[in-house]
Amino acid sequence: MSAPNARELIDALGREEGGDELGRMLQSYLVFDLGSFRTPTLRNIALTAPYFHDGSAETLGDVVRFYNEGGRRNLNREWDLNALNLTDAEQRDLVAFLESLTGRMPETVAAAHWDKKER
Ligand code: HEM
Repeated sequence: MSAPNARELIDALGREEGGDELGRMLQSYLVFDLGSFRTPTLRNIALTAPYFHDGSAETLGDVVRFYNEGGRRNLNREWDLNALNLTDAEQRDLVAFLESLTGRMPETVAAAHWDKKER
C-alpha cells in the first residue's frame, strides 16, 4: 500500500471528529486556508441564529461580546482582532444596528433589475 497523498490525508482529517475546523482547506487543499471560514453576509442576520461556522454564538449579543473581547485565542484567529472596549450601551447599539439589517431580499439580482425596469 502506498503512502496517502496530501488530498487523501486532508480528506481523512476532515472526517475525524472536529475535522470541520480545518475550514476552507477541506475544499481548496491549500494549507493557507487552514481554519479559514467565509465572511458571511450580515443581511437578515437577526433571522439566522446561531452564529459563526460552529454555531458557538447563540445571539447577536453573544457575537458582539465576542468581538468586544477581541475574539478568542486560538491558532487560526485573525491577527487584526483586538478588544474593542465598547460600553454596554455601545454594544446594545451595535446589536440594534445588526437587527436593522432585516428586510425582504430580492428573489434574484436579475429579478430586482427587471422590477426596476418595469416601473
Ligand atoms: C464589531 C465588528 C463586527 C461585527 C458586528 C461582526 C458581525 C458578525 C456576525 C453577526 C457574524 C456571524 C455571521 C453568521 O454566522 O452568519 C460574523 C462572522 C464572521 N465575521 Fe464578523 N463582525 C465584525 C468584525 C469582523 C472582522 C474585523 C472580521 C475580519 C477581520 C470579521 C470576519 C468574520 C468572519 C470570517 C466570520 C465567519 C466566522 C465563522 O463562520 O466562524 N468580522 N461577524
